[in-house]
Amino acid sequence: MAIREISSSPYLDQKPGTAGLRKKVSVFQQPHYLENFVQAVFDCVPALKGATLVIGGDGRYHNRDAIRVVVAMAMANGVGRIIIGQGGLLSTPAASHLIRKHDAAGGFLLTASHNPAGPDGDFGIKFNIAGGGQAGEGLTQRIYERSKAIDGYRIYEGANVDIDRRGTVVIDRTSIEVVDCVDDYAELMQGLFDFDRIADWISRGNGVRFDAMHAVTGPYAQRILVEQLGAPAAAVINATPLSDFGGGHPDPNLVYGKHLFDLAMSEGAPALIGASDGDGDRNMILGKGIFISPGDSLAMLAAHLPRLPGYRSGLRGIARSMPTSRAADHVAKALKVPLYETPTGWKFFCNLLDAGDVTICGEESFGTSSSHTREKDGLWAVLAWLNTLAVTGQSVEQIAQQHWHRYGRHYYARHDYEGLKGPDAEAVMQAFSGTLGALPGHKLGDWEVTLADEFSYQDKVDGSLATGQGLRVVCGDHARIVLRLSGTGTQGATLRVYLERYESDPSALGWTVADALAPLRTALESLARIGELTGRNAPDLVT
Ligand code: G1P
Ligand code: ZN
Repeated sequence: MAIREISSSPYLDQKPGTAGLRKKVSVFQQPHYLENFVQAVFDCVPALKGATLVIGGDGRYHNRDAIRVVVAMAMANGVGRIIIGQGGLLSTPAASHLIRKHDAAGGFLLTASHNPAGPDGDFGIKFNIAGGGQAGEGLTQRIYERSKAIDGYRIYEGANVDIDRRGTVVIDRTSIEVVDCVDDYAELMQGLFDFDRIADWISRGNGVRFDAMHAVTGPYAQRILVEQLGAPAAAVINATPLSDFGGGHPDPNLVYGKHLFDLAMSEGAPALIGASDGDGDRNMILGKGIFISPGDSLAMLAAHLPRLPGYRSGLRGIARSMPTSRAADHVAKALKVPLYETPTGWKFFCNLLDAGDVTICGEESFGTSSSHTREKDGLWAVLAWLNTLAVTGQSVEQIAQQHWHRYGRHYYARHDYEGLKGPDAEAVMQAFSGTLGALPGHKLGDWEVTLADEFSYQDKVDGSLATGQGLRVVCGDHARIVLRLSGTGTQGATLRVYLERYESDPSALGWTVADALAPLRTALESLARIGELTGRNAPDLVT
């Protein structure tokens, strides 16, 4: 036995945000910083002793060093079996699937999602629980409390596991397996979608382009799209995972995926263009001449899912986060299934998925997935679209037009104000909050305010209550303004403003998003006074 007990002093800033603990790489490189947090997790999850643990990451800078530490600490803390993605890689949805498949007691996902990587970039660690979902509020809070009191950790010295070589080694009482990072995930996708039909559709000359953004989905897209579905090699771009993501910002949206938007609008654009983010859980969908907003993508996929092999028994329900556009609500109504509105963050979907209440769920932040895993899943969304195109024989544009004519269209945008001073961001929230009480019954643009409140959510499965989940002004079905502060940023505060407007008149379906939302932008300025309170005249990012 080469287990050492190392003493350390606690750091007081290890409070996980919307999706795990994210900090600058330099913060994680402080002595014992990662170790303390990991020990806090082992202390709070005794079920890991003797059980199976999954470990993998998005391949960013510091991934390998961190994995070495987590493996050595898992051995010292009595984990029975460790499953590691080869090269330290596992996309977030693939890691969640492995936890489920192997009945693991949990998994460590080393990722800061789409945040820039490299020595000056961000790093992150997230603990997922048995069943594959993200740790809930209660456990997250206990881990944080433990991290503030921790005085040491246990680590195994001298194990030297080669994470690049597949196979199993047994060291003392721990079995350590290095597995191919794609195999199990690809098999899962094959069970959900009609690969023959998609392959046939591709072979008939329908073009596909997928941008892995030099992050974790490269090997997954290469295997599934090129090797299994027969797309030409050039269909997958930026396919090699790099530790600095090629210097890019792997967050597929209209800003960081602008080149994909330009491609979609170009002559000879592929029939489907998709992309995923750093850790493979987000997705962006475009077709020839059109960008599909995430809220629309959720609604359109929900409407078509029952035609795809893995979902033929129909949908149990649909869930979306509160700020996500209400397009999916109309589909749920038509399908006569429940619609659940949860706070931001995937963890809130997990109880509903576990209870079998929901088949598909999604967020406005380019996240969509289904009951097949407990994380959002970028490549899944791309494959679901491909399968939908193959079975309907329609283009992305035709599917969208048909959808809007049937259900109406939700014009939608999110405005992000990044790197604000904490007190300035709070002042905006205060100002907006202060106006809410008087709004119901009054006009906002052309519409009457029907509800103005702070969103809170009671989990119907475990009864837990999440308060302070965003401020909203609702004008019936017609329009909404939502404000909340981000829980994933690593610098200053990020204010997110969500604007939504619904139109069902056929003559109102072809406006530009900016024109449609203009009255809401005007109302926002008088209610939240963002310019006056933060000194910012415009958002940093509009998606
Ligand atoms: C953001 C998104 C949220 C998503 C999370 C993790 O969180 O808004 O939908 O689940 O990233 O990808 P936020 O920074 O808004 O707290
Ligand atoms: Zn992500």
